[in-house]
Amino acid sequence: MMKQTGIDVPVSQEKSFHMTPDEFRRYGHAVVDWIADYQTRVESLPVMSRVKPGDIRAMLPERPPAQGEAFEELLKDMDRVMLPGITHWQSPNWFGYFPCNASGPGILGDLLSSGLGVQGMLWSTSPACTELETHVMDWLVGMLGLPEKFRSSASGGGVIQDTASSAALCGLLAGRERATNYVTNQKGCDGRLVAYVSTQTHSSLQKAAMIAGIGVDNLRAIEVDESFAMKADVLARQIEADRNAGLTPFFVCATMGTTSSNAMDPLIPLGQLCRKNNLWLHVDAAMAGTAMLCPEFRHFQNGVEFADSYNFNPHKWMFTNFDCSCFWVADRKALIQTLSILPEYLRNQATESGAVIDYRDWHIQLGRRFRSLKLWFVIRHYGVGGLQHHVREHVRLAQEFASWVRHDARFELAAPVPLNLVCFRLKSGDTANQAIMDRLNQSGDLFLTHTKLNGRLTLRLCVGQTTTQAGHVERAWKRIQQEAEAVEE
Ligand SMILES: Cc1ncc(COP(=O)(O)O)c(C=O)c1O
Repeated sequence: MMKQTGIDVPVSQEKSFHMTPDEFRRYGHAVVDWIADYQTRVESLPVMSRVKPGDIRAMLPERPPAQGEAFEELLKDMDRVMLPGITHWQSPNWFGYFPCNASGPGILGDLLSSGLGVQGMLWSTSPACTELETHVMDWLVGMLGLPEKFRSSASGGGVIQDTASSAALCGLLAGRERATNYVTNQKGCDGRLVAYVSTQTHSSLQKAAMIAGIGVDNLRAIEVDESFAMKADVLARQIEADRNAGLTPFFVCATMGTTSSNAMDPLIPLGQLCRKNNLWLHVDAAMAGTAMLCPEFRHFQNGVEFADSYNFNPHKWMFTNFDCSCFWVADRKALIQTLSILPEYLRNQATESGAVIDYRDWHIQLGRRFRSLKLWFVIRHYGVGGLQHHVREHVRLAQEFASWVRHDARFELAAPVPLNLVCFRLKSGDTANQAIMDRLNQSGDLFLTHTKLNGRLTLRLCVGQTTTQAGHVERAWKRIQQEAEAVEE
């Protein structure tokens, strides 16, 4: 006789190791308490982790537990084992790299996404996952003053990717296919496609050229001017030279806010060149894009109407937990035609109807998280006005810091300060600057990183962590001055 599972065996009597909803509720409250306590005390913790390589692993048992452990033990180990190995990106004394923000609404939105456990590869695998994403991405077009063509109601549309690296790769691939009439997907690259970036473009474009089969030799790094922005006239000459050599120029990546110094590539002349030569223009606004929430900063994106694709990372400066990278295209058909494949097991009525977006066709991977929830929570919690307030405050603090640097004869600014990143250095040379940075970072009081501009070691102070306020920036400057005195003695 066939066994009727679920009728003759009550589910509750089956042996189970799962956490029950009641246990989840209890431990969930404990975890939220832990995070709230962390938020309260993070400011007092040394920003940069002090562990040595291998220290964390040395505290972990060699073998996994054969029997499950009490949840209390897991949480205890967050303090005992994990915290010493954490570099505190969420400290208000974080000024390194570009920020990677978190916020209460972002964390809670992400928790809900985990709770729902949705995999939103197709519209039909959770319509809300797709439709909220489309809607929030359309909201952002208006919030950032982006071209109307990026809206899903026009020819384009937006999708949330994991990172700016993936977004740039998708832009590059769509540009490649458009330039070769979608033949490269079929036949592979012919080695003649050429893409253009500047010497300051993020390294992810090099990786994208490697992955897309363009080849690093066919990625031209165009010279920059004294503000580290791409020179449009040099680009024009290079495109012409490449055409004359029988190559096929197809793609330009312009950066709005380079990683090293926040330089702004001139989108109008670059856009005009792309239009004239039929090249795909991708605009990488990974961090600085957030500033476009404020109309007074939008002059930096004059010319964005020429863009075929555009990307910014709310996970950098818009208080939305990693990962959340917003990517728009002006012509969604080009992107979809580049990335779509339809195996039998994914066929469904909604897809066949043509009435829905299936985001699996908009990025590299198939599966996808419900990322728009955290973005929706952030936007609704802060409101546009709240987001603008914090962005303006960060920019104001960075500008103030820059003015202190200008007025201290030992220091100099190493690049213009368009927004919230200050590149500066002691005039006395690389050794002193390296020493200042090492001493500050080892002190745990704050965290800074460096770059090289015109071959010289340069300190970078980026004001953008969610909770950074005037007092933190003032203290950072005092500490920098103290260390300057110590290393120059
Ligand atoms: C201008 C720019 N583009 C791209 C990236 C890469 O970002 P992601 O980590 O999202 O790939 C960064 C990272 O800082 C960046 O500054």
